[in-house]
Amino acid sequence: MMKVVLVGCGAMSRQWLDAARQIDGLAIAGFVDLDAERAQARAREYDLSNAVIGTSLDAVLDETKPDAVFDVVVPAARREVALSAFAHHCHLLTEKPLADSPENARAIIAAARRAGRLHAVVQNRRYVANVRRIRRFLDSGAIGKPTSIHADFFIAPHFGGFREEMDHVLLLDMAIHTFDAARYMVAGEPASVYCQEWEPASSWYRQGSSASAVFDLGGGKVFTYAGSWCADGFRTSWE
Ligand SMILES: NC(=O)c1ccc[n+]([C@@H]2O[C@H](COP(=O)([O-])OP(=O)(O)OC[C@H]3O[C@@H](n4cnc5c(N)ncnc54)[C@H](O)[C@@H]3O)[C@@H](O)[C@H]2O)c1
Repeated sequence: MMKVVLVGCGAMSRQWLDAARQIDGLAIAGFVDLDAERAQARAREYDLSNAVIGTSLDAVLDETKPDAVFDVVVPAARREVALSAFAHHCHLLTEKPLADSPENARAIIAAARRAGRLHAVVQNRRYVANVRRIRRFLDSGAIGKPTSIHADFFIAPHFGGFREEMDHVLLLDMAIHTFDAARYMVAGEPASVYCQEWEPASSWYRQGSSASAVFDLGGGKVFTYAGSWCADGFRTSWE
């Protein structure tokens, strides 16, 4: 039996718990959230009232001694959660983004290596059927080698919550999916990127709701991205 503690009991945690209950041999031993009521509510909702509930990940890991941590917290808390999980010799399966800065990403990866534990980031958009279909089509060679890849993303959601307050909201919370899907579609090995982000005057986000980026995906493949999360009007697809 693999014992798991889930940290971050907000909106996405439901998707994780729905998936977890389909896996034989996996038991949720604890729920952690800064908001204890939210953690309790999730435990009740999934008939896991015997699980340990807490607001401190360290304390719940000490008590439950699980094999793995499921990290579904906001991006700004990812480093703290990852370091706690690895300090308790747990494997870590984490929501995207891997980290909220290159410095934090390096610290998390170094901690995973030191602990010798598995560390995996959920990038679920590469499992979207259309994305995989495009990869298969390109792999077939029908249009030759991909060299120039372009993506536009223009949507205007009003989420409320952490997204409207966080730094680099489009890049960290959404564009990362498009970047990863593009990399996957053309089997890219990213070598460099130039990126500019900005906050249009009409935006309802605090920082970084619009961005443009040019990636060198290696092997003569260039990927350009233009996106905005405050683009009222006709919208593109989420994918
Ligand atoms: N893969 C996807 O398609 C997808 C979709 C939506 C969100 N996400 C990602 O999932 C993560 C969570 O997003 P969400 O929409 O569930 O957010 P949310 O705000 O609904 O939930 C986040 C929860 O984390 C808790 N939290 C914050 N800091 C914490 C800490 N230090 N310790 C314990 N709990 C803490 C908050 O109290 C909150 O309950 C984010 O990284 C987001 O980017 C991924």
